[in-house]
Amino acid sequence: MTTPAFLLFGAHGDLALRMLWPSLFRLHCDGSLPPEMAVFGVSRSGTTAELHAHLRKALAEELHDGNRDRLEGFLAKTAFINADAGRLGDFETMAAMLRGQGHHVAISYLSMAPDLFAPIVANLHAAGLIDPRTRVILEKPIGKDLASSKAISDGVAEVLAEQQTYRIDHYLGKEAVQNLLALRFANLIFEPLWNSHSIASVHITIAESLGIGGRWGYYDKSGALRDMVQNHMLQLISLVAMEPPVNGSSEAIRNEKIKVLQALHPITEANVGDCVIFGQYAASADGRLPGYNDEADALHASDTETFVAIKAHVDNWRWKGVPFYLKTGKRLASKHTEVIIEFKEVPQFLFGQKPEVDHSNRLVIQMQPDESITLEIFNKTPDVHEFVLKPVELNLEINEAGSGKVRHIAYERLIRDAIKGDRTLFVRRDELEQAWAWIDCIQKAYRDSGAPLRRYPAGSDGPEFG
Ligand code: BG6
Repeated sequence: MTTPAFLLFGAHGDLALRMLWPSLFRLHCDGSLPPEMAVFGVSRSGTTAELHAHLRKALAEELHDGNRDRLEGFLAKTAFINADAGRLGDFETMAAMLRGQGHHVAISYLSMAPDLFAPIVANLHAAGLIDPRTRVILEKPIGKDLASSKAISDGVAEVLAEQQTYRIDHYLGKEAVQNLLALRFANLIFEPLWNSHSIASVHITIAESLGIGGRWGYYDKSGALRDMVQNHMLQLISLVAMEPPVNGSSEAIRNEKIKVLQALHPITEANVGDCVIFGQYAASADGRLPGYNDEADALHASDTETFVAIKAHVDNWRWKGVPFYLKTGKRLASKHTEVIIEFKEVPQFLFGQKPEVDHSNRLVIQMQPDESITLEIFNKTPDVHEFVLKPVELNLEINEAGSGKVRHIAYERLIRDAIKGDRTLFVRRDELEQAWAWIDCIQKAYRDSGAPLRRYPAGSDGPEFG
């Protein structure tokens, strides 16, 4: 009988230190990491002592009274393995060591550049470290367009079955994103209104206040369309627009999500000018925040977009004619993620003067920084002389921070699911490719149309349609 091992490739990387190790530590603390599971950080150079020193720093913020004494236990089950992604010999040495300690590989988490995915998986296989129990988690981005994504997936699929391949989109691990499913499918009240008869428009925004300084080199090859829209935004639109799944299983849910992606109206040279804005932040109005091209690590003058707004349409019976406004950008006025469902007006207004508001009823699902669900309705103000309406908010605060509970890290949930073998919150290959196909069209249409890049001051709300 062998015991399971968790291999974290890219163990010293930024994502690993900020998110993945803290998630693993939390899982260890709450008992979700099987007690017999050993955790190995894998990277090109280092030692277990160095890894432990990094972890003591990276986990400092995680330590509180309830788990302080668990750190040593976590470090005791954590060790370092030296391995170069491209060197089979390193994997053979790793395999001999793991076998010697009585382990099989249960999970390999590849927090690495995507062009290393296929070589790593091939080397794991050649060294005998993949068996039917092994699951491999792939970090985004998987490719930079449909062709490169397919090439990576083909390489990985030579060794791994789809059921063993876990593609992460950390937005799916967020509590508030999962709550979209609960809101829609655990309550009857919204579903009859959730269509083009009642909804005027849908607005999905992921705004960030930070700039790109510090990771300019990486980001410049990607841009907001590939970094945020291809994955997080399209996952959100899928959850908002999908049909009720036939049951709650991972395949049933993913079968419905992909239909939304399949129904996205193609954006071509003919409509890109009306439907897409690409922007890039310039210096802030007061000059205190640098523009994208003036970031300290900027390598050259670049036209990479740091902002995208898209007016999308989902061409199916439910959504025909309803615009979905997708917006994401860096260096915007604030960091927030929200979905706003804007309802149509009542067919006939009965109460004299219409209130002066620029929208009718709205359902505002705030996901970050705080979680809340607000229904904006009209209400009569108490008055015996006049019948005056005023917009008011029915507000449900679901802020975990306010409840004294520690907010979960999205990766914590996803790693736990991978250990359990639940693939619901992971992206299937066909979803990924459908998303890339839509994004490639936009990229090409935008390039061919010669549409201008709109500069916006850092700290502003970014450019708008119209
Ligand atoms: C990542 C992007 O996937 O998501 C980053 O690569 C972005 O550019 C991040 O900042 C945003 O995630 P969150 O969870 O902070 O909204």
